Amino acid sequence: MKPLIAGNWKMNGLSSSVQEVEKLVGLLSGSAPDDRDILICPPATLIGLFATEFGDEGLAIGGQDCHAMPSGAHTGDISAEMLADAGAAFVIVGHSERRADHGESDALVRAKAQAAQRAGLTPIICVGETQAQRKAGREKEIVGAQLEGSIPAGEGDYVVAYEPVWAIGTGLTPTAKDIADMHSFIRSKIREGVRILYGGSVKPSNAKEILAIAHVHGALVGGASLKAEDFAAIIQAAQ
Ligand code: 13P
Repeated sequence: MKPLIAGNWKMNGLSSSVQEVEKLVGLLSGSAPDDRDILICPPATLIGLFATEFGDEGLAIGGQDCHAMPSGAHTGDISAEMLADAGAAFVIVGHSERRADHGESDALVRAKAQAAQRAGLTPIICVGETQAQRKAGREKEIVGAQLEGSIPAGEGDYVVAYEPVWAIGTGLTPTAKDIADMHSFIRSKIREGVRILYGGSVKPSNAKEILAIAHVHGALVGGASLKAEDFAAIIQAAQ
């Protein structure tokens, strides 16, 4: 499967960040290698700009969240159709920060994933256990329930991102064996051909090892995707 290396910029980035992405394109020798998919999910304010600037450079642009409805009286929200209209091809749904900060349930995440598919976007559906859940040995129960509750029925395209909550922004990562174990569990729960990304403290120093693990088809990168040198090194580490 073609690896997907995705950068989640979270609430970071201004119009001046175009320069960082220009630097990234330069480090990738002028255009993104076509044996891997490269995605940047900037804040919604930058989607249109990035799609215009970098659409021809082999970079896909995505959103970080969407509303389930196509339009309506939902102040401050953005629909999947609007993201697609701005030039997005993907959207992250159910990130643990949204599940925690905005109380998003599996049912809501599924509705958002369906909305993405309706609008022609590929949803990246995030799942992952907390540290307490892993300590209690419940990580598969938790991730299994999230997959069951968050993935839309039907044949629509989607990507799964396994992001253990305790590994996000902490510098901690599961062992290669734990990643292999969880990805093979996820593989057994979803249909063939769906990519499963790992996310949580991916950086240049661990990318090669993580991306070589069986059933790891790419990475969802937070902090390290903000720096062109680091993100380029992670992209280059994909097999
Ligand atoms: P970090 O790479 O900063 O740990 O963030 C991971 C993440 O949440 C990506 O969605």
